[in-house]
Amino acid sequence: MITEKKSTITYRKWDNGAMREFSEEVTVVRMDNGAITYACGITQEGYLLHCYFGAAIGDDDISYLMRLSDHPFTPNGNNRDRLIFMDSRLFEFPCHGTGDYREPCLMVLDEDGMSTCDLRVTGYRTVKGKPALKQKGVSVIPATYAAKDEAETLVITLEDAHLDLTAELTYTMFTGLPVVTRSARVINHGYNEFRIQRLLSGCVEWDHSAFDMITLNGTWARERAVSRVALHSGKQSVDSKRGISSHQHNPFAALVSHDASEESGEAYGFNLVYSGNFLAEAEVATSGFTRFVMGINPFDFSWLLRPEEDLTAPELVMVYSDKGIGAMSRTFHDLYRGHLIRGQWKDKMRPVLINNWEATYFNFDEEKLYAIAKTASEKGIEMLVLDDGWFGKRNYDDCSLGDWVVNEEKLKGGLKPLVDRINALGMKFGLWFEPEMVSPDSDLYRAHPEWAIQIIGRDMTQAREQYVLDYSNPEVREYVYGQIRAILDSANVEYIKWDMNRALSEVGSTSLPRKRQRELWHRYVLGVYEVMDRLTTDYPYLLLENCSSGGARFDPGMLYFSPQIWTSDDTDAIERIKIQYGTSLCYPASAMGAHVSDCPNHILGRTTPFATRGDVALVGTFGYELDVTRIPEEDREAIPGQIAKFKKFNPLVRTGDWYRLGNPFEDDSFDAWMFVAKDRSEAVFTFVQILNRPSTPSRRILLRGLDPKKVYRNEDTGEIRLGETWMKGGVIVGAQGDFASRTMHFTVC
Ligand code: GLA
Repeated sequence: MITEKKSTITYRKWDNGAMREFSEEVTVVRMDNGAITYACGITQEGYLLHCYFGAAIGDDDISYLMRLSDHPFTPNGNNRDRLIFMDSRLFEFPCHGTGDYREPCLMVLDEDGMSTCDLRVTGYRTVKGKPALKQKGVSVIPATYAAKDEAETLVITLEDAHLDLTAELTYTMFTGLPVVTRSARVINHGYNEFRIQRLLSGCVEWDHSAFDMITLNGTWARERAVSRVALHSGKQSVDSKRGISSHQHNPFAALVSHDASEESGEAYGFNLVYSGNFLAEAEVATSGFTRFVMGINPFDFSWLLRPEEDLTAPELVMVYSDKGIGAMSRTFHDLYRGHLIRGQWKDKMRPVLINNWEATYFNFDEEKLYAIAKTASEKGIEMLVLDDGWFGKRNYDDCSLGDWVVNEEKLKGGLKPLVDRINALGMKFGLWFEPEMVSPDSDLYRAHPEWAIQIIGRDMTQAREQYVLDYSNPEVREYVYGQIRAILDSANVEYIKWDMNRALSEVGSTSLPRKRQRELWHRYVLGVYEVMDRLTTDYPYLLLENCSSGGARFDPGMLYFSPQIWTSDDTDAIERIKIQYGTSLCYPASAMGAHVSDCPNHILGRTTPFATRGDVALVGTFGYELDVTRIPEEDREAIPGQIAKFKKFNPLVRTGDWYRLGNPFEDDSFDAWMFVAKDRSEAVFTFVQILNRPSTPSRRILLRGLDPKKVYRNEDTGEIRLGETWMKGGVIVGAQGDFASRTMHFTVC
């Protein structure tokens, strides 16, 4: 429900040595859904202040939360001391140049070289449901969606009359979910052009700084490790300047109360629906107030806005929880499963796949693939995914990206004969592409060197012996998409792994005009989205799995197009526990690509039990990444049992509530987690011993999320207890050998 309340704020202040009474008219516009309240205040001058974001509060006058009467607000006949006012109030969408010296959301450079911007509210409107984000000339901007009865949207319009620029701030609140999503769109209504130097998606402010900031950081094969640090005076941020959301920092941040645990305390979670350069920054001002801003990284960003052109910021998802970090995560999971991920696979169990990457790398031919598929199908595996190396003359990672034609030395007669044979085994077939890349040694690069991102006259930095294609150029997008189509139309390909294996460098475009070169970072991402949108629209049955050297683009922007993302190249079960834990802070298990691979693990050299590898991969889409014809016989024989387990528990994992019971970042001797059905009728619990310790008693782990009044049977031990007992007394797990795992199934009796 979106409501407006006008009120008069009256307060007494010292003025010229005497106490005087002042009053002013203000308007509070608030959004409520029973779970949370979000409120903005509009002052008599039209400033848009932040009023409240948190647990639902009653229909009361909350205009006092605008803190208009605070020192050092120094009224003088009701004219503010503007400089102090601007620098000390809580703003919804701060600008630069009129006295707010903290981080702005918007910076505009006009034709005269001036950078001041002063936005005042001109009005607002409400919309049932959630309109798609739009920008002229852009075919798709990924964002959460909702039916008319599932959300309400508030659009506040502000104007800088001097620049003749308007900003539309969009807020959506979802029915029953403690979530607000935000975006901002600026439009040039004037006769002059100007440059948008920064356009962040949103800002939230608090009149205190008693928070820890949680971020997800890492590198290749070690993505999304959890960092939690108390806020301190000044700025603290994570960002990406790589052109992709990156291994190094995820576009996620949470501000949580110092005492917040999985089960209690306050948590504000933020996640940007964007796959390129981003910034998430918390700033603690000397007043002790905190400003949090997030959006496209302003670093090296500049966007020319000609008359009547617009620019739309990606969507910022903001989750509130007063029941701890676990509840925050579960809200993200519900939101993404219900309102972000799309397509025919959204709610379905995914086929159990076997991917040949760790099995063969580049060294395969049709017979080898067929042999793997045949044994795999006998064991119940449902899809063969042919990874890198099937195209051009690619026998190593030094050539042929961009030449998406089948290497007939490996696959005679093209894809069709192989795919037909795979289909005849009753299996589906999937294929790897890296559509954003070009190898210097490729027919494409020889024909179109200008299609690679580059600065003419400078050396081009290679990474994995490849360059990045200029997806801001429609010709490039058309060409690459045409090649993908030709392959998809040549055989029954039902799955694509869309990979992206390097960051951008020498970011210049031969097709963009000089004045628009700094737009390339963002135009690149929009170009990628456009091709993914065409692909998923033209081939709606396709299961698309995103990947970026593992999980370098595990973000909501990608989830809008692909229901699953390869979580990490690190398939070691023990490392995966941490990676999956970090990823789970805001992404659901249904989105995590997870495979059982061979041992010793290719990255770490570690050997773990086959059963543990299976139990850990159950937290995800599940599949295999090994040569099934060559693994030990007993592992091969274990596959049908593992698949049966996956089929039994995947509905719970995919649709249920995820409770993290251990924390491998704090205690590396074990981890445990559980998934509980939404109706609380059953749950699956998993325990993994990491390194066992001598002389430790069995462990008692408290279960979560059960119905306290219902009786549950532990199907694995036969124990029967009240949900309350399982949650307060816990389940006892005896010490296991290093890296061993146990799962337990709890059902209501
Ligand atoms: C990336 C992916 C891997 C694999 C290789 C192929 O590293 O993350 O899963 O597809 O590329 O080159």
